[in-house]
Amino acid sequence: MSTVYLNGEFVPTAEAKVSVEDRGFLLGDGVYEVAAFYEGVPLDMDRHLARLGRSLAALRIDFDIARIGDILPELVARNDLDQADRSMAYLQITRGVAPRTHYFPEGPVSPTVYAYAAKWSRPADDIWGRGFTAITVPDRRWMRVDIKTICLLPNGMAYQDAREAGVDDAILVRDGIAIEGTHQNFWGVIDGAVVTHPETNLILSGITRGVVLEIARELGFPVEERAIQVEELAGADELFFTGTTGEVRPCVRVDGVDVGEGRTGPVTRALSDGFLERVARIKEAATTVMP
Ligand code: PDD
Repeated sequence: MSTVYLNGEFVPTAEAKVSVEDRGFLLGDGVYEVAAFYEGVPLDMDRHLARLGRSLAALRIDFDIARIGDILPELVARNDLDQADRSMAYLQITRGVAPRTHYFPEGPVSPTVYAYAAKWSRPADDIWGRGFTAITVPDRRWMRVDIKTICLLPNGMAYQDAREAGVDDAILVRDGIAIEGTHQNFWGVIDGAVVTHPETNLILSGITRGVVLEIARELGFPVEERAIQVEELAGADELFFTGTTGEVRPCVRVDGVDVGEGRTGPVTRALSDGFLERVARIKEAATTVMP
């Protein structure tokens, strides 16, 4: 059976219990992170922790995250995932057990800290090369999606719409702008530039997004952080998503219309290769014993 982390202890999943009075359960009053591990080596844990700190501060949840950077790799190892090609740790921190008031509790409350680890995999090269499909759906989320809260129902509804339409993801549209995917950031290659929505309250500031922006600049592509109008999608050379467990994921058809040539394009491929090379360098650095 798998081992999870709950409030300071590693326990078998079946023994992990949370109170029905937890404000995460009652109100969705909590935040989360998902960090990737490659053969047990964490990718960009510092950036995930920085974003977690921002999410907690935004909700005024008082919790010292200093130990999280050690707990998550230990959780991965305890689940025998340290040799797995790809795994991830999910971490959730809710405000904790307190009365169900709409305002935040006044006294000190111990947050509930829960984490689990699991395997994931990258699609086979031929499937990745053929690319993935999407539909556009209205963005029904609130105006602070920069906070990584556990309130993901609008994301889930949009993803469900995509599944029922037989496609791989949904592109969330607000005021005519293709904002992001249900659990991934969204990008276009438009008029030779690599374009993605700017870091505002309307997107989650993806860790992968930040890394891929750096790679795009290193590779010498013109980069634009600006809103992508839905009308631009049909004429885009390439579209793709980025996310922790999606890496760089080509999107070759939207609402039944092919993007460019209808298969994974060269810029997406170059950025994906750059991403995988960076992963290899980080793994190498983590496993090289210093003399
Ligand atoms: N999703 N946008 C949304 C709405 C997301 O939920 C995510 C992450 C991203 C990409 O962020 P990052 O590159 O830091 O993973 C963008 C996580 C993985 C999830 O919900 O499982």
